[in-house]
Amino acid sequence: MPRIDIDTIGEDVPLLEGIRTTRSLRRLKPDPVPPELIRKVCEAGTFAPSGGNRQPWFFIAVTEPERRAWVAERYRPAFHKYIAPAQEVAKDPNYPEAKRKNMKAAIYLADHLHEAPVLLFVAGWTRQGRPQLQALMPAIQNVLLACRAVGLGACLTQIHLAHGREIDEWLGLPENCPTCAMIPIGWPIGRYARPVRRSIDACLFWEKADGVGE
Ligand SMILES: Cc1cc2nc3c(=O)[nH]c(=O)nc-3n(C[C@H](O)[C@H](O)[C@H](O)COP(=O)(O)O)c2cc1C
Repeated sequence: MPRIDIDTIGEDVPLLEGIRTTRSLRRLKPDPVPPELIRKVCEAGTFAPSGGNRQPWFFIAVTEPERRAWVAERYRPAFHKYIAPAQEVAKDPNYPEAKRKNMKAAIYLADHLHEAPVLLFVAGWTRQGRPQLQALMPAIQNVLLACRAVGLGACLTQIHLAHGREIDEWLGLPENCPTCAMIPIGWPIGRYARPVRRSIDACLFWEKADGVGE
């Protein structure tokens, strides 16, 4: 890999093009990612909005191979349990191909999670006993967009929550600061491209949402 200039990498991607071409990249090379680049994508996360500008987020990057393996040992069985019913449904020959591909990629991630060079956990202070997902999700999206800009593959995941408190404790997080997501990050094997989405014309209404829910 050529030397990376942390200050300039990703700065030239037009914002809307970056947004339109950010998708989950789950096939990652095991090659290391410079810590300064992880710092850069997490810094993008800190520019997210949050209620009262409370900025409840923390980012914990797990990079040591044994520690990544520890997480993967918990993620893999939890994911396979989660996906098993969908795999049954996918046996139908009419099951949409795009969904089948997505499922395959998610299974690949579960089986190769230990190879991802960075497992980035996102945690945040609770408020009135509840996680502030509404503040953490914009921060997470900023991290995903920043990964897109600098060319790192990433995917928002939540399956680790099946082992929530055990993993949080292991990360050194107190009870009032749980994780809400884990983002495997690495140099991608695939490429960024437009993801499959419903047309804007099926989503946008003016004045009244006629026909929604039909
Ligand atoms: C709240 C949330 C939780 C998710 N959890 C997982 C997960 O645990 N594992 C995974 O492989 N993908 C997970 N995803 C990624 C979605 O499967 C993915 O965004 C969706 O299939 C669309 O694919 P795309 O991002 O490539 O367009 C999650 C996404 C969201 C928004």
